[in-house]
Amino acid sequence: MVVAIDGPAGVGKSSVAQWVSERFGFFNLNSGAFYRAAAVKVLDSGVNSLNEKAVVDTVQTATFDIIDKHLYLDGVNVEKRLRTPEVDKASSVFSSIVDIRHIINGHLRRIASAINLVAEGRDMTTVVFPDAEVKIYLDASVSVRAMRRFNQGSSSLSLEDIELSIRERDHRDRNKKEGSLLIADDAVVLDTSTLTLAQVYEKVTGLIKAYL
Ligand code: DC
Repeated sequence: MVVAIDGPAGVGKSSVAQWVSERFGFFNLNSGAFYRAAAVKVLDSGVNSLNEKAVVDTVQTATFDIIDKHLYLDGVNVEKRLRTPEVDKASSVFSSIVDIRHIINGHLRRIASAINLVAEGRDMTTVVFPDAEVKIYLDASVSVRAMRRFNQGSSSLSLEDIELSIRERDHRDRNKKEGSLLIADDAVVLDTSTLTLAQVYEKVTGLIKAYL
């Protein structure tokens, strides 16, 4: 069974997906982490980020594995390197490249085959897992998302700069040639702007229980 959750940057998808996957014993597939790891690969390689072909060729050579629930890039656990402002931006830019999306989608589907999972990202409900049994779209205003990120205390940016970065990422997410952020016709939309994470978790849990 696949529970697919999409939504914009900073809406809390990762936290919700993690809780829900633990609650139901499902695997938590964080697709954004794959785009982030791909960005790490490109940044480390020293290729010109503006050279699309070189970027694609570089990502094509990368291996992505999940070992003990951790993401390994070329055999190395890169999770501690995925949340810097540099990787935020690079992953957002590279994820607009259609060939990069095809490479990542291949890895996601390979890892997901034959297990129960919660998959979260931007195009899980629409492109990668269109037949998912439960589809959810989480939303919240830009200012609420920026404030949540700021309050996490994990970013080196000011609140204004976080908000600006979220606006830029929203723009790129909504204007991709493929895999653009869209609400699937059959997705349940939850506006989380005035909800706590616990309340969102309860609602998502309820939707899964209703299916089961
Ligand atoms: O969810 P996130 O912020 O960790 O994702 C990192 C970047 O990858 C983000 O800019 C959007 C992109 N992404 C995507 O294009 N498609 C996905 N399914 C997941 C993430």
